[in-house]
Amino acid sequence: MGRYSYKDYQIVEHQYDVVVVGAGGAGLRATLGMAEKGLKTACVTKVFPTRSHTVAAQGGVSAALGNMGEDDWRYHMYDTVKGSDWLGDQDAIEYLCREAIPAILELEHYGMPFSRTEDGKIYQRSLGGMTARYGKAPAQRACAAADRTGHAMLHTLYQQCLKHQAEFFIEYFALDLLMIDGECCGVLAWDLTEGKIHVFRAKMTVLATGGYGRAYFSATSAHTCTGDGNGMVARAGLPLQDMEFVQFHPTGIYGAGCLITEGVRGEGGFLTNSKGERFMERYAPNAKDLASRDVVSRSMLLEIREGRGVGPLKDHVYLHLEHLGPEIIFDRLPTIAESAMTFAGVDVTREPIPVIPTVHYNMGGIPTNYHGEVVTLKDHNPDSVVKGLMALGEAGCVSVHGANRLGSNSLLDLIVFGRAAAKRCAEIIDPNSATPEVPEAVVINLLERFDQIRFADGTIATAQLRDKMQRAMQKDVAVFRTEETLKEGYDSILEAYRQFKEIKVYDRSLIWNSDLVETLELANLLACSLTTVASAYNRQESRGAHAREDFPKRDDQRWMKHTLAWVDEAGEVTIDYRPVRNFTLTDEVSYIPPEERSY
Ligand code: FUM
Repeated sequence: MGRYSYKDYQIVEHQYDVVVVGAGGAGLRATLGMAEKGLKTACVTKVFPTRSHTVAAQGGVSAALGNMGEDDWRYHMYDTVKGSDWLGDQDAIEYLCREAIPAILELEHYGMPFSRTEDGKIYQRSLGGMTARYGKAPAQRACAAADRTGHAMLHTLYQQCLKHQAEFFIEYFALDLLMIDGECCGVLAWDLTEGKIHVFRAKMTVLATGGYGRAYFSATSAHTCTGDGNGMVARAGLPLQDMEFVQFHPTGIYGAGCLITEGVRGEGGFLTNSKGERFMERYAPNAKDLASRDVVSRSMLLEIREGRGVGPLKDHVYLHLEHLGPEIIFDRLPTIAESAMTFAGVDVTREPIPVIPTVHYNMGGIPTNYHGEVVTLKDHNPDSVVKGLMALGEAGCVSVHGANRLGSNSLLDLIVFGRAAAKRCAEIIDPNSATPEVPEAVVINLLERFDQIRFADGTIATAQLRDKMQRAMQKDVAVFRTEETLKEGYDSILEAYRQFKEIKVYDRSLIWNSDLVETLELANLLACSLTTVASAYNRQESRGAHAREDFPKRDDQRWMKHTLAWVDEAGEVTIDYRPVRNFTLTDEVSYIPPEERSY
């Protein structure tokens, strides 16, 4: 009998310096960094590490290496601030763009198999919004491993983690944070294969659980992207930041939702409407098809709305790459060729791919500073960190992406801040100090919630409630929003949130119980959805991915600020705001003041 007991659950206790939750790019880079620095590190993950959603990242990871032409990290910083529509925190953006270069070279040395130029340098391609000389010329900045960059990254990092003896707990579902007096002392997890409960006591808990794309009906995100870290943070009474900013990638395959990389347009591909027009020339005369994602997605939907969509329902557009020729296609975009054939029956060497803007990325998440430490933002103090808790990658909101993320800045975010978190932990964690104690009452309290859900015997099936949430998010919290659609969305999502207590779980077992996993995931998705729609309803301006038709302009006077949203058990959402961090860390670069954003 261990020191914790509850009903007939078998409870196992562990002690670590650091426990990382999630094994995508951010989780693995953090795990590797912590282990390299001699910290006793566990990585708890609900899927096998190399199956994490980072595996689906295609186009590249940005860094101003200048291998394919003129570039500078200051240009990268300018593009990122502009891409963020001036909502990104400039101290964090400076850190991201400056540290990109050593972080990518480090990855290369870890063995990441990047594609190469003729002279053996890392191959780089253009993605949307990339420029040199502060918008004056195009830049090629996305370091690519063909169109499988995320896959190459995950395998490289996982191998390095194993080399440094990080310990993996694979197919474990993280249930809740072990919070004691506002400090995080670890995480409670359920082992899906053996059915045991694990209490991970730790000096630092790092949430790298990814985004919540599956709050929507159609998304490029894997079915595992269910905002688990965000849900745990919300239940711990902490805020989520900028949740209204949901990125729609312009080129999801029509009907299937799978990603077709922006790298297609970076290699010379382009979009057309039913008249065969390259319509992006009208909306973004300079960058055209390589404008930022929010701009391209809105332009596509305007074409469709004005009757120039393609297909029998005129509800999508075409992406052409047939003119690139088989050599470029099969060398640089092999996965795209395969996906287009599998999911749309299209031979890309002969015909265009039918595409539609599809939910792809959450700019919002758990607020952190640029070390990855979660901030409470109590009394708006940006330096009030939650002791023992970090958040990284798409789960976190540092905020480098602000209101709209640029392509290939997400893989970069994972690497740079995963590495930063490890550096910070090496500074603040003493491996010889005691691991925080976790009283039994804290564990039992969390297990009671788990047990209640496990034995839930209401009238609504998980799939039914999830469907209701996903359809409402898709319809009402979409690319274009108005007060009316958001109010409708808010009412439906609040109703769904409250109906969770009427859920029915059919399978009570503790081993390989996908019904229970999906129900726990649904609880996390509902917290994400409710804070998203409430934050969107409140923001009365258009900025980046948040396009309000009733407030079509960006309003810096009133709205250059981050949204913070707390949600309680009853579904009451409290909204507050905090200022954007409009300063830089060093004098190597200065603050970039707001401009009108055009491409
Ligand atoms: O289009 C893409 O390859 C996606 C890249 C990204 O989201 O960063």
